[in-house]
Amino acid sequence: MNSIYEEAVNAIPFKARRGRLEADGSGNLHMDGVDLPELARQYGTPLFVFSERSLRANYRDMRRIFSRYFEKLEICFACKSNSLLAVLRTLREEGAWADVVSGGEYYKALKAGVPGERIVFNGNNKKREELKQAIENGSLINVDSIAELYMVHEAAEGLGTKAKISIRVNGDISPDIIAEFATAQKGSKFGVDLDGEAFSAYRYASQSPHMEVLGIHSHIGSQIEDSRYYRHAGERIMDFVGVLKKELGIELTYVNMGGGFGIPFDYLTQPDGLEAFASSIHSIIQSKVKEYGLKTPVLMIEPGASLAGTCAVTLMKVGTVKQREGKKLAALDGGGDTLLRATQGWYTYRALCANKMDQPEEEICDLVGPLCYEGDVLARGRRMCVLKENDILAFLDTGAYTTSLMNNYNGRPTAAAVMITESGDVKLIKRRQSLEDLISGEE
Ligand SMILES: Cc1ncc(COP(=O)(O)O)c(C=O)c1O
Repeated sequence: MNSIYEEAVNAIPFKARRGRLEADGSGNLHMDGVDLPELARQYGTPLFVFSERSLRANYRDMRRIFSRYFEKLEICFACKSNSLLAVLRTLREEGAWADVVSGGEYYKALKAGVPGERIVFNGNNKKREELKQAIENGSLINVDSIAELYMVHEAAEGLGTKAKISIRVNGDISPDIIAEFATAQKGSKFGVDLDGEAFSAYRYASQSPHMEVLGIHSHIGSQIEDSRYYRHAGERIMDFVGVLKKELGIELTYVNMGGGFGIPFDYLTQPDGLEAFASSIHSIIQSKVKEYGLKTPVLMIEPGASLAGTCAVTLMKVGTVKQREGKKLAALDGGGDTLLRATQGWYTYRALCANKMDQPEEEICDLVGPLCYEGDVLARGRRMCVLKENDILAFLDTGAYTTSLMNNYNGRPTAAAVMITESGDVKLIKRRQSLEDLISGEE
C-alpha cells in the first residue's frame, strides 16, 4: 500500500541531528558517535540499533513538559509499542509505569522490574486468570466491557479482596488518522459507550464491595498530529465525570487520556508537539474541574510511539538490484518480517544509505523486502543515491511497533537488536534468532 507521506519524504531533505545522527567525513552515518555500517558488519543485518540516550531524553522531555501543566502525573509506557526488556527497564528506571495488554506483556513488565502496583492492565478480552493475577498484584485494571466488570467482581470476590479499576470509555471521537489507528469511534471494539452503558457500568462498579473505582480511561487512537482531538475527548469525558459526581457521588482519582501522540517524523511539516498535547488536555480538564467542583485528578497518559519511535534505527543490507518500469528496485534482507507497519502503509520511514551519505541522491528507487508477497515493499519511489549490493540502508525512527511485531514469515529468523548505552558502549539486547529457534516447540 502506498503511504500518503512518500512524497513528503522526498520533498523534505534529511537534516542531521547533531551528536545523535550525523555523517562522518568518509560518508558513514553515525548514531550517538557509533559508526552504523561498522555495526552492521559486526552484528549482521537486519539490525535494530537503539539509543539509550534518546530513549531517556524522550521520557524526560515528556515528563518535563506535562509536569508544567499537571502537578499530579503518571506516564505509563505502552509496552505493545516496544516490549524489549532493555527498553522496559530503562523506562522503569526513569519512573514510568507500564501499560500492558496481555499476560505476556504483564510477565515482561514484571521481569523488567516494574512493580505490580505500577502496571495498568488494558485490552478488550482479558482472561480470567490474567485478571486474577492483576488483582493479586494490586494493578489498575482498565475494564473494557460490562462482561469484564462481572468477571473482575467475581475474581476479586474469590480472592476476598478489592480490585482497583478504571473503565475504558468510547466517546465517539474521530481523529484525522488512518482507520486502523482510530480506537474510539462509534462501533469500535474498545470500551463502553459514553452515551450508552458507561453510566450503568460505573453504578454497578461503585456498588460492588469488591471494586475500588479509581478512574476513567480513554485512548482515541495513534499517530495523532492534531492536539484538538484530545480536547474533544477530554470534554466528553469530563462532562461524564461531572455526572458521576453529581448522580453517583463518585470522585475519581485518575483521568487517563491514553497514548497516541504522533512520532515526530522529520518529514512532517506541522505536527503538534508535546507542549500542544499537554496544554489541550490541561485546559479542558481544568475548566471542567472548576465547572463541576471536582478534585483535580491525577493525569495518566499511555504513550508508546512518542517515547520509543525516534530512539532506534534499523539497518538492512542491499542484495539484488533490478530495473523495472523506469525505476530501480533494491531488494533488502528485511521486509514485512522486520518493519511490518511500513509494508502496511501505516508508518513511513526515511531511509538513508548509511555508507554513502556523501553521495548525491540521483535515482528513484523502490525498497523491497525479501518476502514472497507483492506487498512486501518498505518504500516506494524514493530518491536515493546509486544503490549496489552490500550497501547498508538505515531506516530512521523505527523504535516503536517494530521489534514487538517481528515475525518468522518465509522461515526468516528475526533480527537482532543492540543498544548504544549512555556511556557509548554497544550492548546486544536481543540476539538474532537461530534456525533452531524456528522449530522450537514443534514436534
Ligand atoms: C490502550 C492503549 N493505550 C496506549 C496505546 C499507545 O499508543 P501510541 O503508541 O500511539 O502512543 C495504545 C496503542 O494501541 C493503546 O491501545
